[in-house]
Amino acid sequence: MLELTVNLDERSYPIYIGQSALQQTGRLREHIGDCRPIIITNDTIAPLYLDDVMTSLADLNPLSFVIPDGEQFKSLDWFEKISAFLLEHNCGRDTCLIALGGGVVGDLTGFVAACYQRGVPFIQIPTTLLSQVDSSVGGKTAVNHPLGKNMIGAFYQPQAVFIDTKSLHTLPEREFAAGMAEVIKYGLIYDTELFAYLEQNIAKLKSLDEQTLQHVIYRCCEIKALIVAEDEKEAGLRALLNLGHTFGHAIEAQMGYGNWLHGEAVAAGMVLAARLAHTRGDLSASEVERIVQLISQYDLPVDIPSEMTSEQFLIHMRKDKKNKKGTIRFILPTQFGQCALVSDVTDQQVCDLIAR
Ligand code: NAD
Ligand code: GLY
Repeated sequence: MLELTVNLDERSYPIYIGQSALQQTGRLREHIGDCRPIIITNDTIAPLYLDDVMTSLADLNPLSFVIPDGEQFKSLDWFEKISAFLLEHNCGRDTCLIALGGGVVGDLTGFVAACYQRGVPFIQIPTTLLSQVDSSVGGKTAVNHPLGKNMIGAFYQPQAVFIDTKSLHTLPEREFAAGMAEVIKYGLIYDTELFAYLEQNIAKLKSLDEQTLQHVIYRCCEIKALIVAEDEKEAGLRALLNLGHTFGHAIEAQMGYGNWLHGEAVAAGMVLAARLAHTRGDLSASEVERIVQLISQYDLPVDIPSEMTSEQFLIHMRKDKKNKKGTIRFILPTQFGQCALVSDVTDQQVCDLIAR
C-alpha cells in the first residue's frame, strides 16, 4: 500500500493507493472515527462494490444512498434528495459521508458534505481512473446548473482518499482512456519523466499491470498534492491543471455532456493547446507530434468534432471560470513539460487554429 499526504496544515489528509485499498477496513475506520458512515454511490457501482463496504462497516450502523448513474444527476435536485435522506435519518454532525464512485459521485457527495449542517466529514473512495488521479484529490466539490457545469460548489477537503486499483478492472475501456487524458496532462504541465514513462509503458498500462498503474497513479496524486498544497483555491498555480480544459469544456458543452467524455474533450483540447503553443514559438513541430502520438496511442481523440465552428468554441469559452474582465485565458505549454496561464490569445488566433 502506497501512501502520501496532501499538506494543508490542520486539513491535511492521506491518500492510500493499492490493490486492496478497499480492504483497509482498519484505516477506513480510523478516519470515520465516532461518526456514522453514510455511503453515497450510484446504481452501476452499487452492485459491484457497495456490499463489501457496507459489510466491512456493519457494526457502525452504516446507511447507503444510491443515485442514478450519469452526469445529469450531479445536480441541485440530487443534492436536495441526499440532504433530505440525511435529515430523515436524523443524521447529525457526527456523520461521515463516503463517496464510492467516480467524479460525479465524488463531486456531489463532497458538496453535500460541505453544506450539510454547515459541514460534516467525508471520505473519497474513487473508482474511475479520472477520479483516482484528479477529482478525489484537492477538495473541489460541485453540482452542475442548467446554465453551466460545476457552477455551484465549494472547496472542501476530504478526511482521506482510498484508491483501490482493483476497481479499475471493472471500468469500461473508454472510461479508462478518458482518465488517461488527465494522466498525460500531468506529464505536460509538470513532469517530462512521467510523459516518457507513459510513452514507454503503453501496453502495460492498458493491460492494467499493477506496478505500472500504482507508479502512475502515485505520481499524478503527488503532483496534484503539491499543486493543491501551494494553491488550494486556485489563485494561480492550480489553474495549470486546466491544460486542455478551456477548449475541452467548449467541446463537451457543444456536443452535449456524455457524448464526448470529459477526458476525451480534454485530450482534443490539449492537442489544440499544443498547436497554439507551436504558433507562438513555444513548442517545436516534433514536440507537438510527440503529444499527438501519445494521446492517440491511449485511444483518445486528437481532432476536434468536424462540425464545430470557431464561433461555437468562442461562445463557450467566453463563459470559462478562468476568464478575467472578459478576456479568455488559456493554459499553454511554454516548453515541453511546463505550462503557463496566458491572456494574450486573440479571437483571430483561435479562429485560425480551429480552421486549420
Ligand atoms: P463518472 O463518475 O460519471 O464515472 C464514469 C462511468 O464509470 C460512470 O458510468 C460510472 O458509473 C462508471 N464507473 C465508475 N467506477 C466504475 C468501476 N470501477 N467499474 C465500472 N464502472 C464504473 O465520471 P468520471 O470520469 O469519474 O468523473 C467525471 C466528473 O468528475 C465530472 O462531473 C467532472 O466535472 C468531475 N471532475 C471533477 C474534478 C475535481 O477536481 N473535483 C476534476 C475532474 C473532473
Ligand atoms: N481538476 C482541476 C483541479 O482540481 O483544480
